[in-house]
Amino acid sequence: MGRLSIPDIFEKYENGERLAMLTAYDAPIARQVDNGGVDMILVGDSAGDNQLGYKGTLPVTLDESLSNTAAVSRGVEDAMVIGDMPFLSYGTSLEESVKNAGRFIKEADADAVKLETAPYGQTTIDIVSRLTELGIPVVGHIGLTPQRMNQIGGGYVQGRGDENSTSVDALVETAQQLEDAGAFLIILEAVTEETGKRVTEAVDVPTVGIGAGRHVNGQVLVINDVLGLNETSYKLSKQYVDLNSIIGGAVTEYVSEVKGGNFPGRENTFDPIYED
Ligand code: KIV
Ligand code: NA
Repeated sequence: MGRLSIPDIFEKYENGERLAMLTAYDAPIARQVDNGGVDMILVGDSAGDNQLGYKGTLPVTLDESLSNTAAVSRGVEDAMVIGDMPFLSYGTSLEESVKNAGRFIKEADADAVKLETAPYGQTTIDIVSRLTELGIPVVGHIGLTPQRMNQIGGGYVQGRGDENSTSVDALVETAQQLEDAGAFLIILEAVTEETGKRVTEAVDVPTVGIGAGRHVNGQVLVINDVLGLNETSYKLSKQYVDLNSIIGGAVTEYVSEVKGGNFPGRENTFDPIYED
């Protein structure tokens, strides 16, 4: 059958089917996420804090993102794989942006790339247009854009139109500019429900929210949050299982069995010596 294509995603969207997306950063988790039936897998630069041990997304390198995306691609059969372009791997020049986006497709077997756009961010809107013309499908990302965290100053919900938050209109217009430039899907992060609704009504491409409320076309979450692999929990997220406890329990038990001489057992041993 092969992975979901853009026409497949559009068919679901046209039919009113809600779209499900999760992040993944490596092959075994990507395989599980794929088997679980998501439509799309985002190899997020959220790898920064969720996989690579950085404090946030800014330090993530292009090579790290490409390596993660290639690993996820090798694990996935059915879902669309979207490579998230890390901070400054796009935007420095059109030429470099195109070359780097191309590496996600050519080297890491991604089906599309994602990049963040500031309100009315003309530089990235031009990049989306060029990539689309060349055959690289692009997912837009607006609202709270973590790569601009040093300007935004914190995890402020966007669309409120106050000093820490751009207006709904700015987000609606930026979404429309992204659609015009060729983005086939728009991710909305940490925005008011009104923003999610108005952007979804204003564009004819699917919207996928993370903390964008109920009136969008789909949802995305960070897999570590879903699986309970983080210490912190976020209002916009939902933990479906507590893997931290499960993994912690397994490791404690292993250590105790090694210390106590209970592992390895006879069944784990090659040509065991007979003892009593
Ligand atoms: O990197 C990421 O995981 C993301 C999602 C939160 C949309 O960009
Ligand atoms: Na990201």
